[in-house]
Amino acid sequence: MNILFLAAEAAPFAKVGGLGDVVGALPWALKQAHPEADIRLVLPFHTTVDAARWGLQSAGAFTVAHRNGPLRAEVYETTHRGLPVYFINGAPIAAVPGVYSRDPRADEVKYAFFSLAALALTRMLAWPPDILHAHDWHTALAVHAVAHSQAQAATRTVLTVHNLPYMGAPSPLLLEAFGLPPASRATGLPQWALTTPLPMGMAAAHAITTVSPTYAREILTPAFGHGLEGFLQRRRDRLFGILNGLDTDLWNPATDPALDVRYSAATLSLRERNAAALRAEVGLPQPSARQPLIGLVSRLTEQKGVDLVPAALRLLADYPWQAVLLGTGEPGLEEALRSLEAAFPGRVRAVLRYDDALARRIYAGADMLLVPSRYEPCGLAQMIAMRYGTPPVARETGGLADTVDDVDLRPRHSTGFLFPEASVPSLAFALRRAFALFGHRRRWQALQRRGMAKDFSWHKSAKAYLELYRRLLRDPSQAKSFPP
Ligand code: GLC
Repeated sequence: MNILFLAAEAAPFAKVGGLGDVVGALPWALKQAHPEADIRLVLPFHTTVDAARWGLQSAGAFTVAHRNGPLRAEVYETTHRGLPVYFINGAPIAAVPGVYSRDPRADEVKYAFFSLAALALTRMLAWPPDILHAHDWHTALAVHAVAHSQAQAATRTVLTVHNLPYMGAPSPLLLEAFGLPPASRATGLPQWALTTPLPMGMAAAHAITTVSPTYAREILTPAFGHGLEGFLQRRRDRLFGILNGLDTDLWNPATDPALDVRYSAATLSLRERNAAALRAEVGLPQPSARQPLIGLVSRLTEQKGVDLVPAALRLLADYPWQAVLLGTGEPGLEEALRSLEAAFPGRVRAVLRYDDALARRIYAGADMLLVPSRYEPCGLAQMIAMRYGTPPVARETGGLADTVDDVDLRPRHSTGFLFPEASVPSLAFALRRAFALFGHRRRWQALQRRGMAKDFSWHKSAKAYLELYRRLLRDPSQAKSFPP
């Protein structure tokens, strides 16, 4: 089975967010689950990719057709942990500093060019993929292009949606310049979506996946569907939710070099030393009695529901919590966390930067982790928190609902606290429940241990994707109606 992965990001080469974690893990997990498969990954040669560090070798050049004349593409390759990884360069890629541009137009050209060049690369290599697995809007046009190409009729396509609102923009002129037709009206897409990369890819894909089963159901509704709910309802038989895994070597409290004291479920009491070290590091006083230390590690965006946190903590001011809040993002949210710190000196520390090592010490030292997302296709923080023995207090949505079991809803399996609404009272009520249980040391430790024992490895996800690929390859009728 030839499997081609296309994405904007993959750790360790280029990582901005959760997409990079997934694409940096899944191809290798698939290889482990199915060693005979020929799995290859193609990425843009972002200006930030370190060619010397990864030992990139030139592997040839070709052109991509464009109305203003052919665009030259250059290919570099390396082998990373046993899999071939290709990097494509060319003027539209070199024009953007880093992975994503501040100028949406530059990104659209970059990724349209990349998507088409990646397909041209498979022809240059005479390596036809059986499965093309594309991720997010950046590579969705490759799926669309395959569906409209006679030459690639045998390829089955999977498009994974990591975050539906990010779709690219309607770009009729761009499509025309690259010789791509818009999606057909018969797809059932709304008018604006006929020239928008992500929905075009979704309409053309043999399978659409999202990164959790609950998010796959949520996007069928107006509240989460961003205008595509009607289209998705009609495509329901092609929509699958497969939960992301967690790299359990990268995230392991027993081996994490960033921690002051390493520990496991068997040595849980050692965790208290990490809590003390964390308080000292951020400058919070050591409490005289047991006092919950609340953690937050998040990009500060509307999606993440960070705006609910200051108001909820203010509501609970009478309870002796402390909080350490880490992240960067929207200026208004940074300001809200800063003023919370000013209002609660000695109880709140807001650290407004990206800091992977401190994040790890928060996972290992906080008593509970806030994950108040408005929507969350999968989410990584809650899985890391459970693995590090930090019960999450999380919104009941998307992947959070699929990975956290609530103390009151499933007491014997519980690993954390869920709250149903993205509102201050709903979050505050869940925190109050968490504080109450925190008072019972043994029950709290049982909760921590259940979270630490959960299996979030990539193995399960890889098996589910393989099953999907096999199903698409077995059942050619799935493919016959494409493009509709
Ligand atoms: C996006 C989503 C996040 C998901 C990640 C990886 O960043 O917002 O929920 O975990 O993609 O799939």
